[in-house]
Amino acid sequence: MKACEIPERFVDESLASHWKVDETEESFLRLMRHLEVDSNFKPYFEKALGHFMTRCCRLSDSRGMTVLDLGSGVSWTSAILANHEQIKHIYAVEPSRERLKHGPFVLKHFEIPRGKVTLLEGNFTDFDIPRQVNFAVLCASFHHCYDEFADILFSKIKAILAPGGLILMANEHYVDHWFSFHRFLSFIKHFPRRRELFYKLSNLRSPYPYDGEHWRTRNELEEIFERNGLKAEIFIHDGDLCKEAVPFYRKMGYHYYYAILERM
Ligand SMILES: C[S@@+](CC[C@H](N)C(=O)[O-])C[C@H]1O[C@@H](n2cnc3c(N)ncnc32)[C@H](O)[C@@H]1O
Repeated sequence: MKACEIPERFVDESLASHWKVDETEESFLRLMRHLEVDSNFKPYFEKALGHFMTRCCRLSDSRGMTVLDLGSGVSWTSAILANHEQIKHIYAVEPSRERLKHGPFVLKHFEIPRGKVTLLEGNFTDFDIPRQVNFAVLCASFHHCYDEFADILFSKIKAILAPGGLILMANEHYVDHWFSFHRFLSFIKHFPRRRELFYKLSNLRSPYPYDGEHWRTRNELEEIFERNGLKAEIFIHDGDLCKEAVPFYRKMGYHYYYAILERM
């Protein structure tokens, strides 16, 4: 087991400029451009959330819903959640202090009432929130969770989910054999310096050591969910989460999905 479960990238990280939102309009426009123009982060999240909310109506009572946003980054997802009338409170949990620092500015630009979102430092296996939640959201964070921590993560979430509570996994990916085929070709290409590669021939899909990115297959994901007593409905997005112009073979075998998980 690793000594630390937070990948190196998210500890004292140097953020890309589009995440560095401050009080200026310009910094906020930079973030929005990244979320809506340079990528499909916001449209994909909104699509998943729109669908998810139709399933959540039954969880809402007159007091409104409480939500956990785990791995919330700079909190733009929490801001979108906070704009839903049925949601009364959001706990945004994030390990990167650098990202947390920008959260208050993001919430302010989205005009979220003070106190509707509580920003907390924590991580997949260590977070402490004072009450049960109606649902948990993991947007683009689960693929940074190491296999050995996945069961702890889901047991922690299940422990704070109110009866009937659901989990939304958004902006996620899984890969198929084309991904492994491309990695294999890349292994051959770099054969003379294969010892320097982070992946081995015996495990072409090793997580990336710097940021813990995983390239799981759909079967592996379903196995993790099932093992944790969760029934998953997986929905595939059309197109690509990231719009960068990279050669087609670098995108081979990726499927972008969101999933709605409920207790079996
Ligand atoms: C790709 S970013 C997504 C952030 C945000 N949810 C969004 O959609 O912009 C991945 C996030 O996962 C968080 N993360 C990485 N390891 C984590 C861990 N062990 N526990 C909780 N969050 C983690 C990172 O700090 C980062 O904010």
